[in-house]
Amino acid sequence: MKGILLAGGSGTRLYPMTFSISKQIIPVYDKPMIYYPLSTLISSGINDILVITTQKDLPLFQDLLKNGAQWGCKISYKIQYEPNGIAEAFIIAEEFIGNDNVSLILGDNIFYFPSLKNIISSFTQASGASIFAYHVANPSRYGVVEFTNLNQIVSIEEKPINPKSNYAIPGFYFFDSNVVSLAKQLKPSERGELEITDLILKYHNNNQLNVIKMDKGTAWLDTGTVSSLMNAAQFVQVLEKRQGLKVGCVEEQAYLMNYINSQQLKKIANQFKNSYGDYLNSLINE
Ligand code: TTP
Repeated sequence: MKGILLAGGSGTRLYPMTFSISKQIIPVYDKPMIYYPLSTLISSGINDILVITTQKDLPLFQDLLKNGAQWGCKISYKIQYEPNGIAEAFIIAEEFIGNDNVSLILGDNIFYFPSLKNIISSFTQASGASIFAYHVANPSRYGVVEFTNLNQIVSIEEKPINPKSNYAIPGFYFFDSNVVSLAKQLKPSERGELEITDLILKYHNNNQLNVIKMDKGTAWLDTGTVSSLMNAAQFVQVLEKRQGLKVGCVEEQAYLMNYINSQQLKKIANQFKNSYGDYLNSLINE
C-alpha cells in the first residue's frame, strides 16, 4: 500500500501563525506537525509516500523531509495549486497510485494508536474503502457517520449543523485504486471543494465501505484551530514527559519498522546535539 500525505490547504484559522508558513511545518510541542502523520504512515508499514502541498510551501517540505532515504522511505512530491478539496488529492496522485491500494492522511491530524499495525494490516490488502469513526464531543466540524445498533451505517454527512451521532471521521482513509476514477466523477460542493465525504459515500452506495470504530485507548487530535493546536501540544507533552517515550517520532518508527538499522539511527541521532538526539541514541541502547 502507498501513502498520500496531504499538506496543502490555506490554514486561515491559524492566521497570523500560518500567514507565511505552512500549518504542517509549525511545531506541535517538540517536532514539526507533519512528523506526526508521517510517523503514523511509517508505523502502518507504508514507506512509499507522496506529499501533496502548495507551490509556495513545497521547498520547505523538501528541505525537511528530503527524499525519505534517510528513514528508509521513498518520499515524492506533487503540488496542489489551489485548495480544491481533500478528494482532489487522488486526481493529483493518479500516476503515483497506479494499480495499488492507497491510504491518505491529513497533514494536520495526530493519532496515538497503541496497536496501529494490527488494525491497518487487516485492510491494506482489501478492496473498497476503509475509514475510522471516532467518538468526539463536538462532531459538527467533521464528517459524521451514524450507525444502527448493529453497527451498520445509516448516514454520512459532512460538517452537519445537527449531527446525528458523535462519531466523526478522522483524516486517515484507505482506498483501492478505483479511488482515482471515482474522484474524477465528483462535483465541487457548495463551498467549492471536492469533498472526501462524497467519495466515501460512493463506496458506501456500492456496499464497499468498511468503518472501524477506534477504541477508547486511541487518540485522534486535529490541529486546525489555535485551541486544538494547543491541546495537541499539551497532549504530546504530558504523554512524553510521563512515559519518557516520544509520540510522532519519525526516526523511531523507521527504526522499529526496520527501515533503518542502528548505525543509520545513530548517524541521525548524532546530528541532534540535544534531548531529541539523546532519545534516539537511547533507542539503540535498549
Ligand atoms: P482544513 O483544516 O479543512 O483546511 P485548511 O488547512 O485550509 O485550514 P483553514 O480551514 O484554517 O483555512 O484542511 C485539513 C487538512 O487537509 C490540512 O492538513 C490541509 C489539507 N488540505 C489540503 O491539502 N488541500 C485542500 O484542498 C484542503 C481543503 C485541505
